[in-house]
Amino acid sequence: MDRAAGLSVRAKLTLSYAGFLMLAGVLLLAAVWVFLLRYVPERALMVTGSMDAPDHGVFPVRSNLLRVFAPRAAAVFALLLAFGLVGGWILAGRMLAPMTRITDAARLASTESLSHRIRLPGRKDEFRELADAFDGMLARLEAHVAEQRRFAANASHELRTPLAISKALLDVARSDPHHDAGEVVDRLHAVNTRAINLTEALLLLSRAGQRSFTREPVDLSLLADEAVETLVPLAEQRGVTIETDGDVAPTTGSQALLLQLCTNLVHNAIVHNLPGRGTVRVSTGVRPGTVVLCVENTGENLTPEAASTLTEPFQRGTERVHADHAGVGLGLAIVKTITHAHDGTLTLTPRPAGGLRITVELPATAPSAVRR
Ligand SMILES: Nc1ncnc2c1ncn2[C@@H]1O[C@H](COP(=O)(O)OP(=O)(O)O)[C@@H](O)[C@H]1O
Ligand SMILES: [Mg+2]
Repeated sequence: MDRAAGLSVRAKLTLSYAGFLMLAGVLLLAAVWVFLLRYVPERALMVTGSMDAPDHGVFPVRSNLLRVFAPRAAAVFALLLAFGLVGGWILAGRMLAPMTRITDAARLASTESLSHRIRLPGRKDEFRELADAFDGMLARLEAHVAEQRRFAANASHELRTPLAISKALLDVARSDPHHDAGEVVDRLHAVNTRAINLTEALLLLSRAGQRSFTREPVDLSLLADEAVETLVPLAEQRGVTIETDGDVAPTTGSQALLLQLCTNLVHNAIVHNLPGRGTVRVSTGVRPGTVVLCVENTGENLTPEAASTLTEPFQRGTERVHADHAGVGLGLAIVKTITHAHDGTLTLTPRPAGGLRITVELPATAPSAVRR
């Protein structure tokens, strides 16, 4: 923003210091003057010894007094003014010194590097708090930019992989005309499907992140039931049993996105589970002010540190990427983005016996608002 030049804060502080000093000086001198008027003349008369004519000397003594007092008072004022201006200028400069560092850091951040920090030394005060808040903001911004870069690099890499595989398949088919065309077509089809899934997941992620969806009253328990119903065949195929336990969970949001959230969570709970003997528990409920969806599953042991990274895009667990159920690694990133877009919180807790408990909390709405 272009602003017209104004008086600096240092100058304003200096003027106010000097102003206050002058005001204090005026009050002090006024007090001295009143004191002199009240007590000095009588005493002065008594000292001269004219006891028999006490009314005589008062006025001449007063005007004398003023003549003596006024120039001294003016000198004191001039001294006070000079002292206030110089002292104020030095004091204000010292007080405002941290401000220069903060401004420099802000300029640097807006033009070049986000890695600069102010790190103002000293004990806590208003300036230190501002500097610390600013440092915190810079750290967040820097992390965010780094995360975006990492995401773009990972996404490009993931998108290139199916294209590179397709190219290799086509090269083989071209160089060897007797190669089984049906096999090539099948493999190309599989690779292509994966690429489409990946692109759709990326589109979904950006759509959820933009928060531009329409919000309507929804019951999370119905969406969880719907997700479970569609995934029952997959669970049966993998020998995983699903238990559901749903209280009405009224909230507001995008039906499609919240269904996607439930589907991703239940899908993960089925595929990242113990094959043949796994269980999944899906429950919904209401807490004061929030509705809760909890998806719990048996599975391998996870450390809390490992669990906390799983929501990052393209972060996959220990399984091989090319296992048959290999997802694109965006399932939990999408869940997190959808949760945040609905002003909710997502918690991943490893279960002591292995597997994961994932809890999504969303703001609750009055149950009557939900169309069933
Ligand atoms: N319910 C779960 N139980 C155990 N591990 C899980 C669960 N959900 C996700 N994970 C781990 O988190 C990783 C990331 O999940 P996700 O983002 O959905 O990617 P994907 O499923 O495509 O691998 C998975 O690879 C898996 O290792
Ligand atoms: Mg997944």
